[in-house]
Amino acid sequence: MAFLNSLPDRPVAPRASSEELMAALGGPLPEASQDAVRIVDDLSSRLEPGVAATAGPRYFGFVTGGSYPVALAADWLVSTWDQNAALHVMSPAMSALEACTARWILDLLGLPEQASVGFVTGAHTANVTALAAARHEVLRRARWDVEALGLQGAPQLTVIAGEEAHVSIHSACRMIGVGSKTIMRVATDEQGRVRPDALEWALSATSGPTIVCVQVGNVNTGACDPLVEIGELTRESGAWLHVDGAFGLWAAASPAYRRLVSGLSDADSWTTDAHKWLNVPYDSGIVIVRHPAAHRAAMSQTAAYLTPGQGEQRDGTDWVPESSRRARAVPIYAVLRMLGRSGLADLIDRCCRLAVRMADRLGNTPGVQVLNEVVLNQVLVRFTAAAGENITNEVIAAVQAAGVCWCGGTMWAGAPAMRISVSNWRTDEADIDRSAASILECHSHVGAG
Ligand SMILES: Cc1ncc(COP(=O)(O)O)c(C=O)c1O
Repeated sequence: MAFLNSLPDRPVAPRASSEELMAALGGPLPEASQDAVRIVDDLSSRLEPGVAATAGPRYFGFVTGGSYPVALAADWLVSTWDQNAALHVMSPAMSALEACTARWILDLLGLPEQASVGFVTGAHTANVTALAAARHEVLRRARWDVEALGLQGAPQLTVIAGEEAHVSIHSACRMIGVGSKTIMRVATDEQGRVRPDALEWALSATSGPTIVCVQVGNVNTGACDPLVEIGELTRESGAWLHVDGAFGLWAAASPAYRRLVSGLSDADSWTTDAHKWLNVPYDSGIVIVRHPAAHRAAMSQTAAYLTPGQGEQRDGTDWVPESSRRARAVPIYAVLRMLGRSGLADLIDRCCRLAVRMADRLGNTPGVQVLNEVVLNQVLVRFTAAAGENITNEVIAAVQAAGVCWCGGTMWAGAPAMRISVSNWRTDEADIDRSAASILECHSHVGAG
């Protein structure tokens, strides 16, 4: 409670170096057992100086959510119960809860109700899972059993992705045996959206089993690929369409922002995270596949001792790469029930509104340029000094040291930029104004040399 209560005011950046932290708790492995309460006390007091306030309201780095109290409490239950959510037979409670949470997610996002849902560690693993299901299906249609035979001697498998695809798509391609260099990369526009004409060209240049990867929510700009046009092109070609929506998929839950993802429900698979914008504790990602048979074929395993669920009984392991697994659906269920449909839409709308407020506070200052159309919860900013040189990296370092808020860096259009991602349920107008003031102060100090 002390840590949670300190979140609104503590410096956002950690204060201890790795050496200090190692010295505080490292040392040799004890020979004899030690007191449990003392261990927990030490962990909490000695490691805390190295804990970043990522769960607090002014952490804008990466795409980082906090934890709603209800999600944290639900997560304590998960550890207390210590259920293995692999099979129905191991925990009927977790199996039922996953089934219910899966239905709610499909309903909220407007996705096909027969789609299968897997609860994984994050969007990266969700992308791997979805692409494995895609690989199964496009090769099955080419009469190749990839689970039995692997890729050696298989029909040529093509993956097409935008120039701005998230790095986890590249990594997923490595893991499904396609390799990252062989991805056909299609051009994107100035906001990082896939250009339909470029995709059309790429599709016309390929034949055979093909997977197209697009995204809603570019990690830098928040831009969403134009799914309606993309959907038409992929349908005509017979390719599998995968949508990475690690944070952007939640726009579908907001009547005000749903237009950004129109065409979403026509895809074949989707990825999102709950530990980002849904504000549940790490780690928690979701994979959704329109074709349950392909999803199950790519993931499930059988052995004499693994008793499968009967009929409607859900075995969570059928939809994920893991066997033994944490019951990650529990905090998701808790947040969805606490927010309800309207509360979730409010969360999305509020973060997007606050991102616009941040852009307005920053963008009217000489030497500060907002680089993106702030369509979702991401703001991309570049800083220059009076003489015109790019001082963005220096401003980022100064902002992190000041400790009022935390923003990270990236490269955009070949030059450094600052990323501001508004994804925390606690963030309010005052947090944005305080953070913008700190950023502008750092810019003026750094700019003055
Ligand atoms: C578009 C996109 N896809 C995938 C990921 C990977 O998510 P995770 O780190 O939760 O696995 C991210 C992370 O920011 C992302 O923005």
